[in-house]
Amino acid sequence: MIASKELAGSEHEVPQATEQVDESLNRLPIQSIGGPEQKLKPVVPDLEPATGISLQKRLRVHQVRFCSQLIRNASHFPAISAFFKSIRNIPVFRNIVNGIIGYNRPFPTLQEANEYIADYDGGGHGHPFCAINLMKTVQKANPSDYPALFFLQPILPAVRTVFDFGGSVGNLLYCYANYVSVPADLTWTVFDVAENVELGAQIARDTGERRLRFTSSLSDGDGSDVFIATGALHYFEKSLPTMLSEYRLKPRYVLINRTPFSNGAPFATVQDAGRYRVACMLYNQDELIAEFNAAGYDLVDRWTAAERTHIIPCYPDLSVRAYSGMFLKLRD
Ligand SMILES: C[S@@+](CC[C@H](N)C(=O)[O-])C[C@H]1O[C@@H](n2cnc3c(N)ncnc32)[C@H](O)[C@@H]1O
Repeated sequence: MIASKELAGSEHEVPQATEQVDESLNRLPIQSIGGPEQKLKPVVPDLEPATGISLQKRLRVHQVRFCSQLIRNASHFPAISAFFKSIRNIPVFRNIVNGIIGYNRPFPTLQEANEYIADYDGGGHGHPFCAINLMKTVQKANPSDYPALFFLQPILPAVRTVFDFGGSVGNLLYCYANYVSVPADLTWTVFDVAENVELGAQIARDTGERRLRFTSSLSDGDGSDVFIATGALHYFEKSLPTMLSEYRLKPRYVLINRTPFSNGAPFATVQDAGRYRVACMLYNQDELIAEFNAAGYDLVDRWTAAERTHIIPCYPDLSVRAYSGMFLKLRD
């Protein structure tokens, strides 16, 4: 069983699953649990532990995870938290701290974070563990999905095309269709890495889900009615308004959800999913909104996704105590 703890923390920070099933992912079954056709209960296998990492790196991962957790726990005491923060300003101690917390440290750029974990990654975004976990949770929306559904519900009847950026295997559609009416003739295009595109297309075939399309081409979002980026913006080097500026026709609505933002200058760090690690960029939310404004979008509303956090050991000031979401509309 996947522990419920996996649903807390950042989306990529999940402890190890304990059950091991050797069933092939090529036959990923999805079982209907009755009721409306959208009520799908995916029956998905757990995976073998990662094998692509050297023993030395695996030991280092254990050390980093153990020490990071110890520091996070100790940092609940304000005096200890202040102590870590103060010694960080002394270069020699900062090097020691960074040595102990390894890839969990802040990095100036996404590229540097990616380079640091290059020998560790164990699969990165294409690792099926992430997609499988997401499909296991489609029956129950996350708390931060409710504001998203609130804004989607009134517009969906007139929406023809949704572009789901970093949409994994289409889990958001399976989930949202349990809560709101998603028109049968709507096209929901998921953009993701090749592995997820392939797996998602297979799941859609198995479930008979005809609204889903899959692509690895960002240009397929050009002219879509709604652009959704849930749990994805922080993996990209370019900001979303910059990416949208390359479209001939900008999406009318942009929904961003479950995104960690920096309170100050943007910086990069690493999310640890146990079996693999991914680098991510924490942009400044106000700067992003200003960029959207300049690109012709008005902020309709924003909210916190309190079910997701990213605590950087020894860096309480940079830690994200709640992810965020926002809904934007292109000015008429
Ligand atoms: C945390 S998951 C979010 C999945 C889904 N949107 C959700 O919220 O449940 C992040 C997704 O972003 C995708 N992603 C990250 N970097 C990507 C890239 N360079 N190109 C395409 N997809 C990417 C990952 O493969 C993964 O499916």
